[in-house]
Amino acid sequence: SFRQHVPKGLKTPPGPRGYPILGNVLELRKDTHLALTRLSQKYGDVMEVRIGTRPVLVLSGLDTIKQALVKQGEDFMGRPDLHSFQYISNGQSLAFSPDSGEVWKARRRLAQNALKTFSIAPSPTSSSTCLLEEHVSKEADYLVTKFLQLMDEEKSFDLNRYLVVSVANVICAICFGKRYDHNDQELLSLVNLSNEFGDAAAAGNPADFIPVLRYLPSRTMQLFKDINRRFSFFVQKIVQEHYTSFDKEHIRDITDSLIEHCQEKSVGEDARVPLSNEKIISIVNDLFGAGFDTVATALSWSLMYVALYPDIQKKIQEELDQTIGRERRPRLSDRGTLPYTEAFILEMFRHSSFLPFTIPHSTTKATVLNGYYIPKDTCVFINQWQVNHDAKLWKDPSTFNPERFLNAAGTEISRTESDKVMAFGLGKRRCIGESIGRWEVFLFLATMLQQLEFSLRPGEEVDISPQYGLTMKYKKCECFQIKKRFPTKSSP
Ligand code: HEM
Repeated sequence: SFRQHVPKGLKTPPGPRGYPILGNVLELRKDTHLALTRLSQKYGDVMEVRIGTRPVLVLSGLDTIKQALVKQGEDFMGRPDLHSFQYISNGQSLAFSPDSGEVWKARRRLAQNALKTFSIAPSPTSSSTCLLEEHVSKEADYLVTKFLQLMDEEKSFDLNRYLVVSVANVICAICFGKRYDHNDQELLSLVNLSNEFGDAAAAGNPADFIPVLRYLPSRTMQLFKDINRRFSFFVQKIVQEHYTSFDKEHIRDITDSLIEHCQEKSVGEDARVPLSNEKIISIVNDLFGAGFDTVATALSWSLMYVALYPDIQKKIQEELDQTIGRERRPRLSDRGTLPYTEAFILEMFRHSSFLPFTIPHSTTKATVLNGYYIPKDTCVFINQWQVNHDAKLWKDPSTFNPERFLNAAGTEISRTESDKVMAFGLGKRRCIGESIGRWEVFLFLATMLQQLEFSLRPGEEVDISPQYGLTMKYKKCECFQIKKRFPTKSSP
């Protein structure tokens, strides 16, 4: 091996032999999550593949991943300097840029505080529990009306196009204090990317690992650059409007609170870690970007599963009828009282594993994992899909069965089972939108299922195999149908 200085007594991780120059890229090109899961069965939880000439460490197995991301969290909290990442947020992204030092930490803390203030903190002005509840209830009601109208006009339809706009509107309200019309072309062209973003940002994009590919024309990379450019432009325009109308006595949303932070930081407590205004303001780019595709994809899979499994849908609806009734809308505070619905959402995260890998990590220093020597700056893939389908952890992993999370009486979620689902990463890079994401999925779903029954056009063969990407989706499906469950009164 050409690697140097492997300390005595330590091994290098095993892995498949690759071709010169290409490495293992040919085996990994399609359904990378499945290919790496298969390879891990042969080579183990700590394995090394080569993509192009670059070695990539692939971690599988819940215990091994916890050891790396939690117990040795500092060693594994970096991000690799990948070619495609430099186009995201002008290379300033909180989530994708290679920074993992003090500046990243300060920005992450700022993002967490801003998110909390404008989502799940108690609302001072409204009757809702919090702003998030207010935004989601409004958008979910809109979706119910829209779906009924589409069903009336078209008899079957593609619901994802509308779902993504409603979810985007929730994060728009939190970040920018505004809502967009479902026919707004500018927002539509940003949020209906299908996979333009996810194809290039997916773990294992060959252009990130084989330098020569950067100089060849690539449709994927062209679309990716274009979408990032449009995205930054969209956000920048809104930020400019906020600067113009900014009033420090009246902070309206996350963008305002970041502007306020820019103005106060020189006198404030954080002077220890100086952050440029650009690095502060661009946080809203990350929040907006991470906040709609993930949640929309989760809801999209949820509605596909209820349509595919009518008995499971019926059980959720019976639980909603019994616990909430039909007279009022579901609220966030109902979540703890709906174990079957909760179990369904957990099973949706596990079975779809629509984020098959976390964002790639990298080592911040040379380290040792399970007896294997890992050099500094090694790119690391975390295989969430493998954990969620590991036969050592799950009985019949390929079966969709919410009951696996419930006790025998069906009254409680088992924490030991729910803690095994990997969807938001773990440790220092764990998703900062996890609670918002979970609350949103819950309330959108409960509101829609209380009022509507979902199905697929009879006789239709649907293909739900996920298409590989940063977030995996099923192929466009235009055969959703809905039925009203009961007559609704004019005001909820
Ligand atoms: C990172 C999942 C919703 C903001 C991540 C990561 C995953 C993830 C797997 C990468 C973790 C790692 O690299 O180890 C999800 C899922 C969501 C969701 C499944 C919804 C169902 C959200 C929302 C927001 C958000 C709503 C913000 C409003 C972020 C940010 C990061 C991140 C900023 C980067 C953190 C860092 O690099 O330090 N998320 N996410 N996410 N997520 Fe989420």
